[in-house]
Amino acid sequence: MMLLLNKIIVSVVKILPKSVVYFFAKRYIAGERLQDAVNLVKELNKKGILATMDVLGESITTKEEVILAKSECLAVLNTIKQNELNSNLSIKPTQLGLNIDLEFAYQQIKEIVAKAKEYGNFVRIDMEDSSCTDKTITVFKRLREEFDNVGIVLQSYLKRTYNDVVELNKINSNYRLCKGIYIEPAEIAFKDRQSVRDSYVRCLEQMMKDKAYVGIATHDDYLVNEALRLKKEMVVPGNLMEFQMLLGVKEDLRDKIVKEGHKVRIYVPFGKDWYKYSIRRLKENPNVAGQIFANIFKFGK
Ligand code: FDA
Repeated sequence: MMLLLNKIIVSVVKILPKSVVYFFAKRYIAGERLQDAVNLVKELNKKGILATMDVLGESITTKEEVILAKSECLAVLNTIKQNELNSNLSIKPTQLGLNIDLEFAYQQIKEIVAKAKEYGNFVRIDMEDSSCTDKTITVFKRLREEFDNVGIVLQSYLKRTYNDVVELNKINSNYRLCKGIYIEPAEIAFKDRQSVRDSYVRCLEQMMKDKAYVGIATHDDYLVNEALRLKKEMVVPGNLMEFQMLLGVKEDLRDKIVKEGHKVRIYVPFGKDWYKYSIRRLKENPNVAGQIFANIFKFGK
């Protein structure tokens, strides 16, 4: 019943004015300005938590907009350096031209990775929907020939991912492993919760076996426990893994993992283009219906 209510609420959210959506979405983003993200990262760093900063934006269709997005990413790298933040940068390939022209996108991403290299920093390439998977892996493989400060994201809901892990381990890849957020057809993606988890554990085990660095990106207690079990059984050193979580999600779990002495990195998105990202987060929030009703009730009083 609650699940159905959540689905209804999420489709209603999409027709609400942006200002109303922002009210529920703001927990997931640092704000609209780079300074908002800087302030937030400073607070996280004080607690011993690392960050990965992300300029919100995706599915860009013109080269002019891509170049603007690239300069924003470069500005983030500069700001991280100037403020001595403990943060790297996450980028979205379609924000940097992946759907316009593959060579053009590669050149833009390369410029960002080269700047990060100069600053001793690191760039994580986010993974978008399955129409981007091959192209993103192609760009990543090419970058890996030249750079060691770039990593990729893989999604355990895709049936292909275990094979991708085996392939990408051969070039000593650095991963973020997540379940995956886009809606994909059953021919290519696992659909039930436990299959996605099983695939996650299988991929993680292979990454650990081949001594790849992995960012374990999940808020699922089951997967956190499985990761800790594998770490122990396979004697994975702390410098080969970290936990990663999204801003505004399960801070209690985050604090527990930090307290236990594990490295934790928070995804800190910011920028004016917050809408699509926030809708994806709201869809995933199992309590979105409850929270919206609670607030309506509060406003009504
Ligand atoms: P699951 O969805 O089962 O969530 C576990 C629990 O966490 C829920 O029961 C709930 O309590 C809580 N929770 C989860 N989402 C919530 C929300 N929005 N609001 C409130 N509570 C919530 N995906 C992708 O396709 N490409 C990418 O590049 C990335 N990048 C990325 C970076 C990082 C750091 C993280 C943590 C995640 C991503 N993702 C992603 C998203 C990922 O694929 C996935 O959609 C989410 O992490 C949710 O999956 P969980 O593993 O957390 O499990």
